[in-house]
Amino acid sequence: QRVFSGEAHGASGSPRWSVPRCLEKFFILHHILYYMVTGVLDSGIGGLTTLSEILRVRGGGEYIYFADAAHCPYGDKSAAQIAAIVRAGAVRLMDEGAECIVLACNTATACAIDGLRAEFEKTTFVGTEPCIKTAKIYGKRLCVLATPLTIRQPRFARLLNGEDCFIPDCAPLAAEIEHGYPHLTGAYKMLAKILAPCRNEKFDACVLGCTHYCLIKDHVQKLLRCPVLDVNNGVGRQLIKLAGASPDRGKVRLITSAPDIYTLRAAAEKILQRFAAPSIIP
Ligand code: DGL
Repeated sequence: QRVFSGEAHGASGSPRWSVPRCLEKFFILHHILYYMVTGVLDSGIGGLTTLSEILRVRGGGEYIYFADAAHCPYGDKSAAQIAAIVRAGAVRLMDEGAECIVLACNTATACAIDGLRAEFEKTTFVGTEPCIKTAKIYGKRLCVLATPLTIRQPRFARLLNGEDCFIPDCAPLAAEIEHGYPHLTGAYKMLAKILAPCRNEKFDACVLGCTHYCLIKDHVQKLLRCPVLDVNNGVGRQLIKLAGASPDRGKVRLITSAPDIYTLRAAAEKILQRFAAPSIIP
């Protein structure tokens, strides 16, 4: 059926495109670029550092941020528990309209992303993983900070690829940051203790394998005096590939499994306004 005189023809002479089909494609593309709702999930406020970088890199977009604070910290639970908890969080985000979900949590990614991708084929899942490979560019001597559950996962072993890195026990650090924020003196003290055994070591780079640790990145840098890397910028660039840049101001809706939204809202206002000025809807 010919609808437009300028239509292109295939070898057989049949039309390959028409105005309605072009419009349809335009609307689908337009929808993907500007209206794709992205869900962002973490055990608490750590993933706000990822969202903040996504907003900075993409310029805007529409997001639902789910802080699963009722289950924080993820890092002291079993892989099976986290897989089930994260699945429930992802389903909640999909029910709220998310078409793409960023697991802004290394622990959730290590335990749940494979299962989520296999079960929910129509949803795109973007994970966060310790950028050990990138860090190797700086040299061989690396320090990797991650939750106990992350470092026990096969995905982590694959990232490490037999490399001999310094991986201290960071067990209570994420919870300390979550509950202390914005007062981080407790977390700074804890970090100093964690890094005490390597006080005289000279690392080529340090990898932050937990999004909560991004909130004390400057302090890690101060103590280790080496480049400190996280994967947030890579996640932002990945979202541009999936959904394009967004010219709007950005809109973030907050949801939480905690009894109140106020703590999350206060943290989101502080963390997200560092680089962007999205409108925040609790
Ligand atoms: N922010 C998370 C991560 O990147 C989880 C921290 C936790 O809840 O233990 O691993």
